[in-house]
Amino acid sequence: MGNEATFNYRVVRQFAIMTVVWGIVGMAVGVLIAAQLLWPDLTFGIPWLSYGRLRPLHTNAVIFAFGGSALFATSYYVVQRTCQVRLFCDRLAAFTFWGWTAVIVLAAITLPMGMTSSKEYAELEWPIDLLIAAVWIAYAVVFFGTIAKRRTPHIYVANWFYGGYILTIALLHIVNSAAIPVTMTKSYSAYAGVQDAMVQWWYGHNAVGFFLTAGFLGMMYYFVPKQAGRPIYSYRLSVVHFWALIFTYMWAGPHHLHYTALPDWTQSVGMIFSLVLLAPSWGGMLNGIMTLSGAWYKLRDDPILKFLIVSLSFYGMSTFEGPMMSIKTVNALSHYTDWTIGHVHSGALGWVAFISIGSIYYVIPRMFGKTAMWSTRLITAHFWVATLGVVLYIASMWIAGVMQGLMWRATNPDGTLTYAFVESVKATYPFYAIRLVGGLLFLAGMVVMAYNTWRTVRGSDAVEAPIPAAVPAHA
Ligand code: HEM
Ligand code: HEM
Repeated sequence: MGNEATFNYRVVRQFAIMTVVWGIVGMAVGVLIAAQLLWPDLTFGIPWLSYGRLRPLHTNAVIFAFGGSALFATSYYVVQRTCQVRLFCDRLAAFTFWGWTAVIVLAAITLPMGMTSSKEYAELEWPIDLLIAAVWIAYAVVFFGTIAKRRTPHIYVANWFYGGYILTIALLHIVNSAAIPVTMTKSYSAYAGVQDAMVQWWYGHNAVGFFLTAGFLGMMYYFVPKQAGRPIYSYRLSVVHFWALIFTYMWAGPHHLHYTALPDWTQSVGMIFSLVLLAPSWGGMLNGIMTLSGAWYKLRDDPILKFLIVSLSFYGMSTFEGPMMSIKTVNALSHYTDWTIGHVHSGALGWVAFISIGSIYYVIPRMFGKTAMWSTRLITAHFWVATLGVVLYIASMWIAGVMQGLMWRATNPDGTLTYAFVESVKATYPFYAIRLVGGLLFLAGMVVMAYNTWRTVRGSDAVEAPIPAAVPAHA
């Protein structure tokens, strides 16, 4: 294990702690908006607490604050460990932490005030967009600068995924955010009409592919072998996985615009590439899961490994479901319904949050000079509460979604609609209640994690037997 003089662990510590903090904040807002769907008057009509303003706050907080912090923390940790060298520039790394924190705070102020570009997952107004671009360029310089001065001969595959995500997000952000400012808080997109929609979903889908997937695959390629104490199942497969995934994702965006004014052939291209995407996604998932072959018994009593491996099963599930939903006839049923919300959260909670939680549990004791987290039993409790939470969330949304789709298209023999829209809303209420319970459970798990983290950081050392030590899988 390296020490403070060799590696820059300060910035890793900062981002790791903020992953837990922003996780709680973002998911608490998620729980609040889930409750608002059940009780629309919950926030007494106060404009800045209205559903329309809190929803983008939720998505920004969970994706960019929680997920982003996990990605910064783990990429900075992994790149230093696998390159056996300190981060390229400490000051620039510190700038990425404080700059990113400033972006999050500005988002938390401006979104409830109703300032928005109205582009999904890119709602922040142009001055904040400029700050994001500056932070991201600094991130790229630190990350690739570290790779350039590495002491190891090859570049470990986790860094390929982190590198791909960093480069692509820079490109996506700069192209999609191009806008003409009118005032400090208002701008208009540089694109118009269907071109605007296409640029937006080229961005939106690749935000899923590169922010919510490629970076987290970087985590998979480092933390699964480490925690399992085995080398990655196939290095060759990982290289094929990388190139196939990044090539295919780029073309799949139009599946968000089925049956719109977008030319039909473009929609078909999106659908075909989405179907092809199943192959690299599952190749990568299998590479992660098969890493455990011969060591399955470790799953029994290592809750960190449970988080990591279950995250891969959710990844497999959501990347099977996504290609199915991209088929036009299936999308005709699923679009606009809660099925999409179920799909989103099987990816976001089951895959993104689970792999982040597992990886951060791995990183935190090492960053604070401890042999293990304060309590392994609390990690196990977190795992089961979170698993139950995800299952309740996604199962209720799937049922609600298919029900809504079927109710909206049901017709009587004389051609009139069988149900009024409001009847489908009424029928959805029980499922919103189940989703709320699922969300509360998931949030409760995060609070347990925060408590365990606090005790780990403050305590003299682990109070329970440490989790079986991970054997280095490489470098
Ligand atoms: C306690 C956990 C969570 C709860 C209760 C929750 C709840 C919600 C709710 C109620 C919505 C709005 C659904 C609608 O408009 O019908 C939503 C949307 C969304 N959430 Fe979450 N969420 C949670 C965690 C997360 C996490 C961890 C992520 C990402 C890493 C995430 C990503 C999203 C995204 C991307 C959307 C927008 C989906 C779309 O527009 O199709 N959520 N969430
Ligand atoms: C092979 C992989 C995947 C494919 C082909 C795919 C495909 C799709 C499709 C067809 C939709 C519905 C579009 C619509 O009707 O509007 C969708 C929505 C979505 N998916 Fe996936 N998906 C994949 C994996 C994932 C993963 C792993 C995540 C999360 C980590 C994810 C997050 C989302 C989000 C956030 C949306 C909602 C976008 C919005 O309307 O706001 N997807 N996806």
